[in-house]
Amino acid sequence: MEVVPLSDALGAEIRGVDLSRPLDEATVAAIGRAWEDHIVLLFRGQELAEDRQIAFASRFGEIAARSRPPERRPEGVDYNDAVMMVSNVKRNGRYVGSLPDGEMWFHHDMCYDPAPSRGTFLYAMQLPSTGGDTLFANMYRAYEALPEGVRDRIRGRRALQIYDYAMREQVDISGDIAKYKHHVQPVTISHPLTGRRALYVNPLITARIEDMAETESRELLAELFRFTENSSLIYTHRWQVGDLLMWDNWSSCHARTDFPAGEIRMLRRCVIKGQALHE
Ligand code: SIN
Repeated sequence: MEVVPLSDALGAEIRGVDLSRPLDEATVAAIGRAWEDHIVLLFRGQELAEDRQIAFASRFGEIAARSRPPERRPEGVDYNDAVMMVSNVKRNGRYVGSLPDGEMWFHHDMCYDPAPSRGTFLYAMQLPSTGGDTLFANMYRAYEALPEGVRDRIRGRRALQIYDYAMREQVDISGDIAKYKHHVQPVTISHPLTGRRALYVNPLITARIEDMAETESRELLAELFRFTENSSLIYTHRWQVGDLLMWDNWSSCHARTDFPAGEIRMLRRCVIKGQALHE
């Protein structure tokens, strides 16, 4: 097995591993170490059936079940709770997947949950001719890049994370938020496995800093969100069919670029369970 860095920001390609076959303990341990070091791992040219993708992901944690309501499931399509299609394809008038199309702002998957997922495993099956890239930000570096004064201001702070599955922009929190998935999380976290400090806010889901005046919270979040403009901590993944990416959801966040309407983008995703995060 070879570990080849993908960029100065984060990421490594793992070569010499066929994910369609069962892996021995030593290989899984080496992949786990590379994952902690590089945050995002890429395996190219994989031929991965659904059960093999789930089997691989489950070597790193318990698979988190999806809970898509029956009325949003397409008819005539096998529905497996362990995977979710990221796709703009429709069958019988319904999307076969969640997150269908358009651009998506930077976000941490499931940071609105009390136990945000540890990692996401995304496998590319069909891609548009252009666009639909996924950008990853290194949130350890985002924290380290903050001016000393800003680090002092966010110490001990907590922020509301809230998400509406129907939208790809921020939720309006001026009304009743009870109907949306939401949770208050620390603004910075100590990564449960590496012990390193990471910034834990993002422009899609983080709505306000708790116990702070609205204007101050908005201005401080705008300052924290400037990591999205810092190319030195971002890696852009240009997908190829057969790519499997696994990313650490605690020390990175990601965004998707737009792609031509009418072209198909289909990826298969599964997620492993996480835990409560602490400052
Ligand atoms: C996701 O946000 O989990 C999917 C990212 C992508 O579609 O590139």
